[in-house]
Amino acid sequence: MISRKITVIGSINMDLVTSTNQIPKVGETVLGHSFHTIPGGKGANQAVAAARLGADVTMIGAVGDDSFGEMLVDHLTNQGISTENIMKVKDTSTGIASITLSDGDNSIIVVSGANNHITPAVIGKNADKILNSDLVLLQLEIPLESVIRAVEIAKKHGILTIVNPAPFQRLPKELVEMVDYLTPNEHEQALLFASIDGTEQELEELKEKCIVTKGSQGVMIYKNGCELEIPSIKVEAVDTTGAGDSFNGGLAVALCEGSEIEEACRFANIVGAISVTKLGAQSGMPTKQEVKEFLQLHKME
Ligand code: RIB
Repeated sequence: MISRKITVIGSINMDLVTSTNQIPKVGETVLGHSFHTIPGGKGANQAVAAARLGADVTMIGAVGDDSFGEMLVDHLTNQGISTENIMKVKDTSTGIASITLSDGDNSIIVVSGANNHITPAVIGKNADKILNSDLVLLQLEIPLESVIRAVEIAKKHGILTIVNPAPFQRLPKELVEMVDYLTPNEHEQALLFASIDGTEQELEELKEKCIVTKGSQGVMIYKNGCELEIPSIKVEAVDTTGAGDSFNGGLAVALCEGSEIEEACRFANIVGAISVTKLGAQSGMPTKQEVKEFLQLHKME
């Protein structure tokens, strides 16, 4: 039996999604054409992606004591995710993301709320969950020092870690050295490596940990100093919100199941591609069976 215990440590948001033909300029009011309230947050999205693919997922996170928080925890529980390690923070709002969809693209403002309460002390209290995992998956919508603490604990015990460095912030070199895989997009990767001090050789070595997501073009990895492109499949995109999260969830599952990195990226590319065919970050995330059917349809099996 393949072991697939994944702990996701990260944000839980309610996505407030407005679709419009026109993005307002400063001081202007425009009419949009639809509004939806959809579960999101990079952490929760990645947890759902991995759970739909059959992994045994535990989520460490926080919500506020409001109705969004209750709805989001219920939703994650219904997805088969262990939610016992999600804190409810008193007198605090649950994280939200105000998302504007226009012309097939999105712009997002995140208000972190309870996600900021995932402190290093909270990570320490949940160390047993980290130690009981095959892989720990993190993003940057919780305090950076907590991401560092979690990676330290995991690293000390030889547990595989993936950090999705989004939204971008400077990472200390020690964190990049400790982590097993980083999954920036092209923009994040450029900023990340511009901000790390090191010799050319050190930076080249650290780059080998990167799986660079390139949207509809798939991903790029570095192998023995060479760039290797792993293309994705073209699909009709309805909403690209959460495509990176689907990729990360798929990658985590494939690596836990023992796939080599190239094979894991190919699988995660397909998971990401399928996920953009529906509105909302999580709505289009596929099950293993759906991935199989997609591959048959595209004659890739
Ligand atoms: O990656 C997409 C996610 O980013 C959205 O669901 C939103 O909540 C923001 O955190």
